[in-house]
Amino acid sequence: MHTPVLINEVISLLSPRPGAVYIDGTLGAGGHSRAILEASAPDGIVLGFDWDDRAVDVAAEKLAPFGERVRLIRRSYAEMDSVVDEMGFSGGVDGILLDLGLSSMQLSDPGRGFSFKTGGLLDMRMSRSLSVSAAELVNRLPEKELADLIYRFGDERRSRAIARAIVNARARGPVETAEKLADIVLRSGRRRGRWQIHPATRTFQALRIAVNDELSNLEKGLAAGRSLLAPGGVLAVISFHSLEDRIVKRAFREWSAGDGDFVRLVKKPITPSDDEVFRNPRARSARLRAVKRMEE
Ligand SMILES: C[S@@+](CC[C@H](N)C(=O)[O-])C[C@H]1O[C@@H](n2cnc3c(N)ncnc32)[C@H](O)[C@@H]1O
Repeated sequence: MHTPVLINEVISLLSPRPGAVYIDGTLGAGGHSRAILEASAPDGIVLGFDWDDRAVDVAAEKLAPFGERVRLIRRSYAEMDSVVDEMGFSGGVDGILLDLGLSSMQLSDPGRGFSFKTGGLLDMRMSRSLSVSAAELVNRLPEKELADLIYRFGDERRSRAIARAIVNARARGPVETAEKLADIVLRSGRRRGRWQIHPATRTFQALRIAVNDELSNLEKGLAAGRSLLAPGGVLAVISFHSLEDRIVKRAFREWSAGDGDFVRLVKKPITPSDDEVFRNPRARSARLRAVKRMEE
């Protein structure tokens, strides 16, 4: 199961109240949604989005006790503005949470190929609506495009050597599993000193970001969230790597600059305590930022 990250901090920023409407753009296992529903009892509403059907099924079970107070939507949070419009919530919403990246359920599912630790086919699609898998990128992209992708989305200095090794390997047969890709990346360089992280970590991150178009979804999600927030409403985002955090930081800075109609609730990102990281290592790289639309 997935343990929600920075849960007390998120609740304190959103300060959910009865009668208000919240969007959880990334339901996952529903941990944050549950806390929002509890804090906004007896009649606060959560519109929960996840584009992974399996996540929605898990969240549906967990949130069933809240009945009509929860609406589950199997779509990308990037589309939340049009979905919320279609649902008839015309007065805007009072709070929005985006808890980016993968859930522990996705990471540990060997069928999905997100991790070289669990193996499995190199799929990495979070949603069935996505058409291109990681295996297709790895086996089809020209060497230069593959190197650029690994450099840009993985911040990987060895991107060219890794792309070359992949192209050499796939000439002998398709690279179809997470284990095989991890092995190719591992063998593409000489080991120098102790590893801080597994040599394939950045390559896997890059492929995942590309397959799920994560950065442009985040840009669209932020814009959609901005248009939906009612006066006094809060948008909180938890990111897990610097590419995401940079996008959030820039957007919030721009919205709150000059006569902007937002204020930043945190100037420096909130990070988890040592105790939280000890209990939940996945929280390690989490950074929470939030803005509030000014009251009229
Ligand atoms: C870190 S988990 C969220 C965990 C959740 N906050 C909890 O407490 O259980 C991220 C979730 O966001 C979903 N997700 C990622 N990108 C998405 C997108 N563009 N639209 C909808 N859901 C997305 C993933 O499928 C995953 O289930």
